[in-house]
Amino acid sequence: MAFKTIIEPFKIKMVEPLRMTTEAERTKILKACGYNVFNIKADDVLIDLLTDSGTAAMSAAQWSAMISGDESYAGSRSFFRFQQAVQDLTGLTHILPTHQGRASERILFELIGGQGKVIPGNTHFDTTRANIEFSGATAVDCAIDEAMVPSRFHPFKGNMDIAKLKAVIEKAGPSNVPVCMLTVTNNSGGGQPVSLENIAEVKAVCNQYGIPLFLDACRFAENAYLIKLREKGQAQKSVKAIAREMFALCDGATMSAKKDAFGNIGGFLAINDDELAARARNLLILTEGFPTYGGLAGRDLDALAQGLLEIIDEDYLKYRIQSVAYLGNHIADAGVPIIQPTGGHAVYIDARAMLPHIPPLQFPGVSLVCELYKTGGVRAVEIGSLMFGSADRPAAMELVRLAMPRRVYTQSHVDYLIEVILEVHKYRDRLKGYSIVEAPEVLRHFTARLQPIR
Ligand code: F0G
Repeated sequence: MAFKTIIEPFKIKMVEPLRMTTEAERTKILKACGYNVFNIKADDVLIDLLTDSGTAAMSAAQWSAMISGDESYAGSRSFFRFQQAVQDLTGLTHILPTHQGRASERILFELIGGQGKVIPGNTHFDTTRANIEFSGATAVDCAIDEAMVPSRFHPFKGNMDIAKLKAVIEKAGPSNVPVCMLTVTNNSGGGQPVSLENIAEVKAVCNQYGIPLFLDACRFAENAYLIKLREKGQAQKSVKAIAREMFALCDGATMSAKKDAFGNIGGFLAINDDELAARARNLLILTEGFPTYGGLAGRDLDALAQGLLEIIDEDYLKYRIQSVAYLGNHIADAGVPIIQPTGGHAVYIDARAMLPHIPPLQFPGVSLVCELYKTGGVRAVEIGSLMFGSADRPAAMELVRLAMPRRVYTQSHVDYLIEVILEVHKYRDRLKGYSIVEAPEVLRHFTARLQPIR
């Protein structure tokens, strides 16, 4: 008998209490925080879906790896376990540990970026784009058109548009394109997977022009599992075999191990090119640490090595992908517009479609985020005009991301969340827009203060 309920494939032996708050308290908290949920104390949040990054629950095996971690400065046993785990999955040659994903990006782009360089990707994540631009180079997004239409179904909305990629390379001149990046899954485009076929096509174009291909591999396991589910001819392969095929098509990878390695901190930069790796190692020593710890404690490396074994467990991935789909499908069936289909780590509500009466420059995403917190103590994040727009230019989409921490919440938490969202959806036409009271020049969404428009 195959039962239809997908259960959490773990049991719980250590718990953290959630602090209950009332709607009246949350109304006051919102006001005091300038209607910016980044300013809310985590203890005042009931269900925290701000990010899936660094928020995972570690397993008993990871905690015991923490205890046996080796804190030697050089040649730590924990590093060799970590290196072995990464190489076993990726097949890549040089593995440099870093304290998190953006440190890998900073080292890579400091070495290969710079004025006049152009770096195409499907959709660069904000820190990737920022590090590319900080080096003086230009970041160009080449995702397929479907990626920009939330309601449009496509099994691999993270795919790169091959014609756009070629046009970018031709325009810049291949010698000005030091690398091509594919983010798997495509976080900024809705946690959407990239197909193996597309990775191979991108690699063929890169080969044609002599350009290396790197993966932003934060969520490689979710991407591999979605390939297994959705791509023709892949169902019989193990997720590990698919992941290995993905990495085999690449010349390197950046990774935030705070996602698909069940880490609370950590990352790596993996490179095949010996000469580039040697230069990266020198920069690593300068700013992160000796190459056998790279800004991490030995115990962190050990926990990550164990996490990388656990993340490709297919019972886990089945539960993970299905629980995100469970949330997305329940709210979509009740009429809430979301990015379709649901992808790996999050459900993205299309706030522009849900709140058409609020103009983009009055931040419909912020309005929905505030209402979810006020009504149910749920913290989501706006990915729209507050994050990516400017005073006179709205963002391409107004999204609200509900990112699921790994192994943290249970189905009853998700059922509660569905109730909260559907309650807000009922009176959505009463929601108001917001205006900015004060905001810094760059990355304003982190610290801006807002007020509701009366
Ligand atoms: N690349 C992608 C695709 C990411 O999603 C992130 C982080 C990074 C790189 C940077 O990694 O945080 O370890 O430095 N994403 C988090 C998020 C912050 O909430 O989506 P990091």
